[in-house]
Amino acid sequence: MADKLIIFDTTLRDGEQSPGASMNKDEKLRIARQLERLKVDVIEAGFAASSNGDFEAVQCIANAIKDSTICSLSRANDRDISRAAEALKGANSARIHTFIATSALHMEKKLRMTPDQVFEQARLAVRFARNLVDDVEFSPEDGYRSDVDFLCRVLEAAISEGATTINVPDTVGYAVPELYGNFIKNLRERIPNSDKAIWSVHCHNDLGMAVANSLAGVKIGGARQVECTINGLGERAGNCSLEEIVMAVKTRRDYFGLDLNIDTKHILAASRMVSQTTGFVVQPNKAVVGANAFAHASGIHQDGVLKARDTYEIMRAEDVGWTANKIVLGKLSGRNAFKQRLQELGVQMESEADINSAFTRFKELADRKSEIFDEDILALVSDGNVAHEKDQYSFVSLSQHSETGERPQASIVFTVDGKEVKSSSDGDGPVDASLKAIEAHVKSGAEMVLYSVNAISGSTESQGEVTVRLQNSGRVVNGVGADPDIIVASAKAYLSALNKLQSKADRVAAQG
Ligand code: KIV
Ligand code: ZN
Repeated sequence: MADKLIIFDTTLRDGEQSPGASMNKDEKLRIARQLERLKVDVIEAGFAASSNGDFEAVQCIANAIKDSTICSLSRANDRDISRAAEALKGANSARIHTFIATSALHMEKKLRMTPDQVFEQARLAVRFARNLVDDVEFSPEDGYRSDVDFLCRVLEAAISEGATTINVPDTVGYAVPELYGNFIKNLRERIPNSDKAIWSVHCHNDLGMAVANSLAGVKIGGARQVECTINGLGERAGNCSLEEIVMAVKTRRDYFGLDLNIDTKHILAASRMVSQTTGFVVQPNKAVVGANAFAHASGIHQDGVLKARDTYEIMRAEDVGWTANKIVLGKLSGRNAFKQRLQELGVQMESEADINSAFTRFKELADRKSEIFDEDILALVSDGNVAHEKDQYSFVSLSQHSETGERPQASIVFTVDGKEVKSSSDGDGPVDASLKAIEAHVKSGAEMVLYSVNAISGSTESQGEVTVRLQNSGRVVNGVGADPDIIVASAKAYLSALNKLQSKADRVAAQG
């Protein structure tokens, strides 16, 4: 029988650390349900001690998800570990993931601790965690750049104290495949009790090698857990991408000889959900989930694929969830059909009132757009299109005028704390005029660091999905808005980003 490779998804924790990718509890739960559908083995649901919001999200996922192990990150101290254990109480299968930095640079400059102090803290943290749960993962942060002798000492002690998984992070994406693979192999050979734990790889993508390094950790090093995120989401250049590592191991089973639990046909839906929720658009040429991943443009390739598909295709598009873009609902669809489709898409609504309001938005959209796809439905319930009670700003209506040779003008009506205001401005283009009209009233002073438009379902009949990233006083947020009119989508995205800037609570940053 082949060995099994454990897939540990950290989209909701390390992925969420991307600038502006923070998600609220409902969004996290929706993604967790999709990860469960994907049959991910372990879901790192968050960092419970970092904020009350994260605690509640981990707790809610632990209570709702039954088929995957639910994990919370925690620093190597009793308070963090207790918070994690408390948040995980309702889980069928719970894991605490505790970490402390072990590289000389991090210990001296960041932690200001001696190696002996770090050793002791790591040991005590694992011991404390093991008294609370049976499944404990330990990570030496910046492990790949740590002194090997010291690392062996720390990891041996962590295993002796009961760590069941040892994860070796390449925190800054400095590794290259062969060296990283041998690094893991060397640790496993030198540490006397290494066979008492499962070895795990955690690679960042700063040099574009996160997937290659993870595969080398598995093949050369013998790791049997990979930490990864949907779409490779994560700080800086991101983490190892789940869809790429899974399809590499599956497609090249002849080479890796490993089995996976993953139900790959849910990959594309997971990718879309994460991209729509966070506003991190997937590049068209991205492996497995990019719009062009299975598109054959050249005549020679098209001809080959028509004659025998394996001439140019090494995976089947339908195996990762690509099907013909099918119409799912239309103007005549009723509330029950809509509700059922929401359930199939993993969207859980808190109350009948929420379903009614989503259904009203669906009907409004169906009046303007004849064919409604799954992507449209997901956009309807994504943050920028839903009014939350706590929102300060909410879109009402917009009119704009643009004509060749004339400066565009826009007038927008939106609510501020429930009261309607109207504001107007001109601008370089209609989008610029509309956003300047909002800013003329709000005066947030936020700097726009990203603006992107994406067609949700491909054609010009598609809704435009806009991401706006704003930065203010060191905080970065993404707002997403969707509408058949891209200027309206832009205004919604801008207002959604402003709401997030208002509500973003101070969090303790994970140091990964
Ligand atoms: O990259 C990293 O080192 C991490 C750890 C917290 C596991 O994310
Ligand atoms: Zn990380």
